[in-house]
Amino acid sequence: MKQNSTNWIVLKFGGTSVSSLANWKNIASVLDKKLSEGYRVCLVHSALSGVSNKLEKIIASASNGESEAIVSEIRDQHLELAEDLGLDADQLLGDEFSELEQLARGISLIQEAGYHVQARIMALGELMSTKLGAAYLNKLGLKAKWKDAREMLQSIPAKNASEKAQMLSAICDTAEDPELREELETEGELIITQGFIASNEEGDTVVLGRGGSDVSAAYFAAKLQAERLEIWTDVPGMFSSNPHAIPSARLLKQLSYMEAQEIATNGAKVLHPRCIMPARIHNIPIEIKWTANPEQRGTTISSTTADDEALVKAISVRDNVILVSMETLGMWQQVGFLADAFEIFKEYGLSIDLVSTSDSNVTVSLDPGANTHFNEIREPFVADLKSLCRVEIIESTSAVSLLGRHIRTILHQLGSAFEVFQEHEIYLVSQAANDLNFTFVVDSEQADRLVQQLHEQVISKSTGLASFGPTWEQINGVETETSVSREHWWKRKRETLIQLAEQEGPVYVYDSDHIDEIISNLGVLRSLNRLFYAVKANTNRELLQLFYERGLGFECVSIGEVAYILELFPDIERNRILFTPNFAPRTEYEQALREGIHVTIDNIFILQQWGSLFEGEEVFLRIDPGQGHGHHRHVRTGGVNSKFGIPISELKEVRSITERLQIAVKGMHSHLGSGIKDPASWKRTAIILAEAASLFDEVEILDVGGGLGVRENEMQSQLSLDEVETGLQEFKKGFPQYRLWMEPGRYLVATAGVLLARVTQVKGKGKLRYVGVETGMNSLIRPALYGSHHTIVNLSRDDEPGSITTNIVGPICETGDKLGIDRLFPESKEGDVILVANTGAYGHVMSSSYNMRAPAHEVVI
Ligand code: LLP
Repeated sequence: MKQNSTNWIVLKFGGTSVSSLANWKNIASVLDKKLSEGYRVCLVHSALSGVSNKLEKIIASASNGESEAIVSEIRDQHLELAEDLGLDADQLLGDEFSELEQLARGISLIQEAGYHVQARIMALGELMSTKLGAAYLNKLGLKAKWKDAREMLQSIPAKNASEKAQMLSAICDTAEDPELREELETEGELIITQGFIASNEEGDTVVLGRGGSDVSAAYFAAKLQAERLEIWTDVPGMFSSNPHAIPSARLLKQLSYMEAQEIATNGAKVLHPRCIMPARIHNIPIEIKWTANPEQRGTTISSTTADDEALVKAISVRDNVILVSMETLGMWQQVGFLADAFEIFKEYGLSIDLVSTSDSNVTVSLDPGANTHFNEIREPFVADLKSLCRVEIIESTSAVSLLGRHIRTILHQLGSAFEVFQEHEIYLVSQAANDLNFTFVVDSEQADRLVQQLHEQVISKSTGLASFGPTWEQINGVETETSVSREHWWKRKRETLIQLAEQEGPVYVYDSDHIDEIISNLGVLRSLNRLFYAVKANTNRELLQLFYERGLGFECVSIGEVAYILELFPDIERNRILFTPNFAPRTEYEQALREGIHVTIDNIFILQQWGSLFEGEEVFLRIDPGQGHGHHRHVRTGGVNSKFGIPISELKEVRSITERLQIAVKGMHSHLGSGIKDPASWKRTAIILAEAASLFDEVEILDVGGGLGVRENEMQSQLSLDEVETGLQEFKKGFPQYRLWMEPGRYLVATAGVLLARVTQVKGKGKLRYVGVETGMNSLIRPALYGSHHTIVNLSRDDEPGSITTNIVGPICETGDKLGIDRLFPESKEGDVILVANTGAYGHVMSSSYNMRAPAHEVVI
């Protein structure tokens, strides 16, 4: 709590919060509670939702006579809300309505609106909404005193600011104001006033710029030396990333002022960046709260930080960044180049955001918000700059920032996160001098995916830290798997599983009902003509039988897999088997052709050296799309760093061989990688394949590969099959001539499998606690090989809360033999049954008898 504070608190409610009866009921009960706790409340609120935009439109449409219609829209909106609140708006707002009409008429007469008039028009939004608010609260008996903010907040003339800025983005003093406090204390315990508006020294109305209500509230908090500033809004708080783009984004429970400033400045729209400074100067904590659900814990911003705070707290993206790249050899050791170049930026009023330099190049970024006039001055600016160096303007880029604190000290831990840049061109990297921000500028097209990957690598993996609250999905109770029941099957079947583990020791258990559900889910992908199960993900006979019975085909990568399928299902139609090997010996191709199954060629060498084998046959070509995707670099199978596929540049040569040998290229295939969460990926692959296919006459089928990602734990994002389907449908509209195939492995089996093992020993070492189990990387190598993060629970103590930070390890003689690190676990005992979830894919198939310890066997239930 703030020292020496008064019993004032300032509550600010945004436009959405004050636009419905339901929200006003919540507001009233919040106020009631605060008053009964002995607080004095200063309530600051915005205009009704959308009204400020409409007022701006009136100003903009001064000359085209549309303003009358907009004025009556605004009036209707207030009338409607007043009716819901049981108030008479005409009586309450008559003066404001006629002032608005007059001002609108005035500007359409003289066809222009000066800044003074603009400010007066904009101010009406808040003046009207607060009058309704005050009347409603009084009707409920809350004794709210309505005050005109212009009598309490005075703007100060800012140095060098234009008249426009002085009137429309005014700033006010942040000092304490004991006189105002005394005055308000005589007027009552609940004051209601407007955000966004103030007056200047001459007594004219001024406004604080869009989003300025937060800033007003912060000024009032400073003046009154409030104990707390509460910002009530339409989201639960600040999140680790934009939750609409990343549903697994996590609520940030606590932030320092500096961190909040950085996050707000870098694009989070929850809080106006300018409202933090006044609170910070007076050490007034800010709380962000959710009007629709007042009980939900939000974000607290203060000067305190806990020991176990995460260092990277948020990942943000700012779009439409413009880069100016300046290149000259002359700059090397030349005094004054930067000064000359920056002088030109200054001349054109361009404000520079990020800078990066090398011997021969300086690249700077321009924040679009601060440089709205760039396009108007672009030509002369570039011409002037060209007198100094070669200039390139790079557009359509986005700035992706890791935000937190002491970022420099944890760069080494970000190693795996940086792997995502293997596939992305980075134009500029910048580490802020304040050590709170690490920014990369990349192509806008890549930005969303990059944020998603970074979020998954950096934030979703850090569980149990004080700064992070629940995910957006958890707060909203969103269903997490398409139609698979929200509760994990293994929770329902807990007793059976415990019994199995106690009888059988380490064991993989697969749930056949769950697999049935997943197969039905994949039915969403109606654009696909055929599904092949990628056998490599799990070769359990009973599961293969299930897939066989449900009509799936089989994608095999070795002749061993082919032989196995043929042994299990001797009568299978041969066109249900697809052979997709890589660097396999010639004999495997001979055998596959003899069996009459589909064969995929992924290297021109095969045609050049063994061409005669394929004479007169039908084949598929595996194309390298130039880029790979996937959860880890080991599983990305596109691009120069991957050994797979024929590069597009070789296709003409391939065609001359296939034509000569009369080989029919019946299908094009591409598999980008495994564990892909970007739903647009398969559509993009299809487009690349269609382009490649246009070089050949006979192509009928495009196989877009596997790779459908699953979430390995609750914190990861979920791939939406609906969105995958939308992408494929869009593709099909443009290319109806092709049949589409897909070959998922992981998606069909991952969530259906769990690994069970009993606790052998526990150990405490320094601050760390180890729980040892009877099997480890010999059964499940994924955490050691890819750093994969599987949910792990102590099934025997499912009802006990996780309270101790624990590493769950196996018995193998390698330090990497860890199934999970830093997990919040209950106190565990020898014999407890531990469950590692989502291990149905690439679990048992990748196991070994390393250390002569037999891996877990398999049971299907
Ligand atoms: N098609 C081809 C040609 C493939 O190489 C693969 C997987 C798939 C389809 C199936 O991909 P899926 O739908 O399962 O993502 N061991 C790694 C995964 C390696 C994937 C290899 N290829 C892991 O545990 O994550």
